[in-house]
Order: sequence, then structure tokens, then C-alpha cells
Amino acid sequence: MNKSNYHIFIMLFFFAFFSAAENSFSQSFKFVAMSDSRGSYNGVNEPVLSALVTYMLQNHSDAKFLLFPGDMVNGSKTNPDETYNQLLNWKRIMSPVYNNPNMIWPKVWVTVGNHEVQHFKDEENFRALFPDVFMNGPNDEKGLSYFFDYNQTTFVFVTSDRWYYGDPDDTTDDRRDWHYIKHLDWLEETLKAARDRGNKYIFVMSHEPAFPIGGHLRDALPNLGMNLTLPLDSTRLWYLNQRDEFWRILKEYNVNAYICGHEHIYGRQTVNGVYQIVAGSCGAPLYHFNSLYGDNPEVKKPGQEMTYDESIPYYEVLNYNYGAEGNAQASWDFEGYRAFEYVVFNVNENSVKVETYGAFPKEGTNNEIGSEIELIDEFVIERK
Ligand SMILES: [Fe+2]
Repeated sequence: MNKSNYHIFIMLFFFAFFSAAENSFSQSFKFVAMSDSRGSYNGVNEPVLSALVTYMLQNHSDAKFLLFPGDMVNGSKTNPDETYNQLLNWKRIMSPVYNNPNMIWPKVWVTVGNHEVQHFKDEENFRALFPDVFMNGPNDEKGLSYFFDYNQTTFVFVTSDRWYYGDPDDTTDDRRDWHYIKHLDWLEETLKAARDRGNKYIFVMSHEPAFPIGGHLRDALPNLGMNLTLPLDSTRLWYLNQRDEFWRILKEYNVNAYICGHEHIYGRQTVNGVYQIVAGSCGAPLYHFNSLYGDNPEVKKPGQEMTYDESIPYYEVLNYNYGAEGNAQASWDFEGYRAFEYVVFNVNENSVKVETYGAFPKEGTNNEIGSEIELIDEFVIERK
């Protein structure tokens, strides 16, 4: 059997396996999510990522698989071979996960972040490095957007970042194409089909948050950009509408949680009844949360994008809670920690118990662990 036939055989086998599991919630299971491990050790923050992976495998080795929505490496704008080598380095650091016999194939499900699509060769290289995700997404996002079922639960990856190459003959017609979910029709069909199959839970993953929590108030999916003035121009309105439509679809099909990164901090909240969980640093330099009313209006903390005064127009457009009593977030139920972390989802018949394990930074640093890894958050997501 040649290599490509072998891959097809394996994929068909697992489709059959997953399909057989569709009609019964045979047993509880757990999975793990983490994101954003980029750093300065050949593109990766190896000390932090390794510490979290080691702890995770010591304490949750029975997890069935791990989700990783992007920014695993720094990448390169000019040299795709460098990005490729950094991703190889990431796979080496993640080898304890790949070698964990308790996990099921392909063990780690990934998509790109903005750092993995900085050059027109990057997507092709990414697919070559991670060939075992399903290629069942839209034609122009194969291996970046896809879905799979496990134990009556549907997992959908949709990429928020991709490389645009409009006319291959025109070398000036290439650029990053990021900050939005492109194939909303495909997403809607996929979610509808998951519900039609009678699946109990749906999780959607992408790199960028729909509701930025700190550090990316000007981009992420709302993509309001720099120097925001009102009324919104047509480009800003387009991105905002695309974000709103994305969230409407998640709401309509009762998605249980949207899991993302991009923000290098941890935060979870419900918006219109759908959880957004930012699992945003297992190594990438920690940000601060959106500026609060009480913050010094003249000074930005390291990793803070704007002062409170500069943030106000963004809070207004995004309808965030701000002012003296505000939390500078989309929802009052927001909980967040400035920590390196990973999130464990314990999926049971009627609810999902979520546990977040993390470590706080060493004082004065944003990329070194300064405390023991411990349980820092827990909450329950009800079945809908
Ligand atoms: Fe990012």
C-alpha cells in the first residue's frame, strides 16, 4: 500500500469508527485545549510548553486528544523554510503527547494562527507537516478548516487566518488574509448536519477570538483596526458583520463553546449563551486584559494594547461593559487569569466539566513560569 492509499485507508477506518460511535453516548471522555506557544527557542517557548505538557501528561494522560488552534511558532514573513523548521521543532517538543498511547489518532488536532500564514508557501508546508487532520473542509482551506465526530460530539475547526493569492501570475497580488471566518455557509451546513446526526455537543475552534479580551482589541474577528472613528467605514462594518454572523450561527446551532487563542491570556465568558474560551498562552508572551477604568490612563502595562481612554471608542462599538463599574469585556460573567495554561474538558452525558490548569509568570517577566502549575478555574457547560 503506498503512502497516500495508506492515509485514505486510515481515514476511512476512523470515519467508520467515529460513525459507529455516533448513536450512543458510550462513555464520558476528556480532551484538552491549549494555544499560542510561540517563543524564542527556535520559534517556540520550549520551557513553558514542555512544563505544561509534562504536567498534563502526568495528571490527564487519559485525555483522548488535544486541540491546538494556532500560533504554535513565531514563523517568518520572508523565509518559509524557517517556519517549517520551527513547526518541526514544535512537533519534537510535543512528542510526549504524540507518544502517549492513551490518546487516539491523530492525537493532536491543529489549525493555523496568523504566525503560521505569513508567506504564500506556508499553508502548503503546514498541510505537509500535519497531514492527518481531515481534509473535509472548504476547497481553499483544506487541512486548516475541517470537522470530526467523537462520541456524539462534533469538533469543527475554522481558520480565521489564511494566505491570499488572488492571481498566481501577479506577484504583487499576494498578502495575508486574516481576522475573519471566511466560509460561514460551510460552517452552518456542518453544524446543521451535526445536529441532524443527533450529536450531543458541538465545539468550534479557531485562532482568533470573536470578543477580544486584551492585547487584540483592535484586531481579532471584529478587526476594528487602528485610529477608530465613527461612523464605521465600510471595511470595518464588513468585518463586524462577519463576526456577528459567525456568532449568530454558533448560537443558532447551540454550539457549547468556541475555543480560541491569539490573546496570550486565559479568559472565558458567555455571549448570547455561547461560551468563548480563550486558551491563549502555553508559552507566548503574556498580555494584560483590556484596560480598566482604574488603570493609569497615561501608562500601558507591558502587553497592554491601549490606555483606558484610547480603548473607549472600541468598547463603545463592541458594546463592552466599561466605565467605573465595568469589566471592559463583552460579558459580566467574564473570568480570566494572566497565566500560562491548558484547559481540560470532561465530557459527560449531560454536561461538560471544564478545568483550567495554569501557572503564573515570574515577577517582572511575561514568558517565564514563576509558580507551580495548579487548578486556576473550573466551570460547567450544560448540554443544550
Ligand atoms: Fe495570533
